[in-house]
Amino acid sequence: MGRLIVASNREPYDIEFRENKLKLHKTVGGLVSALEPIIKSLGGVWVCWGRKGQRIPEVFEVNENFLIKFVPLSEKTISNYYYGFSNKTLWPLCHMFLSRTKFEKAYWTSYRMVNMRFANAILEMYRSGDTVMVNDYHLSLVPNIMRDKGFKGKIFFFWHIPFPSYCIYRFLPWGKEIIEGFLGADVIGFHTQEYVDNFLDCVDRLTDAVIQGNNIKWKGREIKVKAVPIGIDAERWQRDASSKNTLKAVKKMRRELNVEFIGLSVDRLDYTKGLKEKLLSIDRFFDKYPSFRGRMSFIQVAVPSRTKIQEYSELKKEIDQIISTINGAFGEPGWVPIHYYYKGFPSSKLAIFYRLADFALITPIMDGLNLVAKEFVASQIDNRGALILSKFAGASWQLKGGAILVNPFDTEKTADSIYKALKMGPEEKKKRMETMKKEVMEKDLKWWVQEFFEGLI
Ligand code: UDP
Ligand code: G6P
Repeated sequence: MGRLIVASNREPYDIEFRENKLKLHKTVGGLVSALEPIIKSLGGVWVCWGRKGQRIPEVFEVNENFLIKFVPLSEKTISNYYYGFSNKTLWPLCHMFLSRTKFEKAYWTSYRMVNMRFANAILEMYRSGDTVMVNDYHLSLVPNIMRDKGFKGKIFFFWHIPFPSYCIYRFLPWGKEIIEGFLGADVIGFHTQEYVDNFLDCVDRLTDAVIQGNNIKWKGREIKVKAVPIGIDAERWQRDASSKNTLKAVKKMRRELNVEFIGLSVDRLDYTKGLKEKLLSIDRFFDKYPSFRGRMSFIQVAVPSRTKIQEYSELKKEIDQIISTINGAFGEPGWVPIHYYYKGFPSSKLAIFYRLADFALITPIMDGLNLVAKEFVASQIDNRGALILSKFAGASWQLKGGAILVNPFDTEKTADSIYKALKMGPEEKKKRMETMKKEVMEKDLKWWVQEFFEGLI
């Protein structure tokens, strides 16, 4: 069995030079959390562009069988390919924010060029027998570029965000080329069957491929399309959540917060995550259920993201403002309604928050999956927490048996769901949590690797 070559936009580590020594910091994000342990155990190469790559050799050795191959990009290219086509075109389009979607020829040209360079970098690092895995919306053209260059090896491609229906996708002027880009892969994975169905419909309408069930025949090759929601290392979350240090920290934090109930949300600060809508529901909750004032505090972790894009920096200002308005309106000496952190935490610290919370309120407007929801579930050692989850998170398909599902635009019902979570008896909480835990533990990261890679790695 060969190595695994992973290609993704984001590097697995931030690499910095301090006092002439290299320091690796794991980057925050679903993709890295999921793939880093696999490549560490198998050996291989991670191909990425690397934000801090300038002073680092193009091939960086994490250890003797784990290399990082950087594809250095100029500032202008980053602006057009990453901030532009990836995050101002494909990201809003696939999350169905059509009015935020920019259609710029210069973004597309740059995106195509970067995809070409990634394909070349993979081919350069490839050794016979290796398995290639290409990730996400930044690199959709890579599989077919590799085929055009005569590559005969196996390519797996995973799309980590929603795939929209044809009635949205058809607005993309370069939609056909992107779909054909996917079709260079042998196996294409999505988080839900809904995204698979949307994708197959677009393949059918835009290409001459033949579709049979979830399989596609195109240019003499067979391509499998699968719904395989990514899993988490659930055992590790359980270990972290039950460690002595975690329990000590939970006790200390409970004492310090000095309230009966604690709510939690952990999101990248992104308009798709529904932060504004969630805060409005919390506002409505304190308004409608005044007996909980002084008794419930909410912890909002918002991880800085894509801050160079105006919409993201503007959203940050709005969130700051809404939180200070809520705290100003409801707060009292000795009680803060919302504790707000604008930074990323290491997973050991997240485990403390997960264990501390009586409920998690995870309400994206649209989300490919949402790993945080699964991590929260895995961390509920004593089945004490309740999960309020948006119907529009991919994870809701798996967790609907135990979560309180909400539409984040329904402020009233979301506020009522917080009340329901806080009033829920221990038996019902346990039953719901056990149902979700079963799914999260059974369909964990190992399961996902097995299913997606078809036992190949
Ligand atoms: N995460 C983290 N530190 C933080 C916040 C989040 O390490 O302070 C991790 C979290 O554990 C999860 C990932 O970032 O694995 C977020 O993945 P998710 O699918 O929820 O959202 P994404 O950011 O990928 O859209
Ligand atoms: C989503 C995407 C990932 C991306 C992550 C963080 O999960 O599917 O590909 O890495 O968001 O976004 P960023 O732009 O900071 O890499």
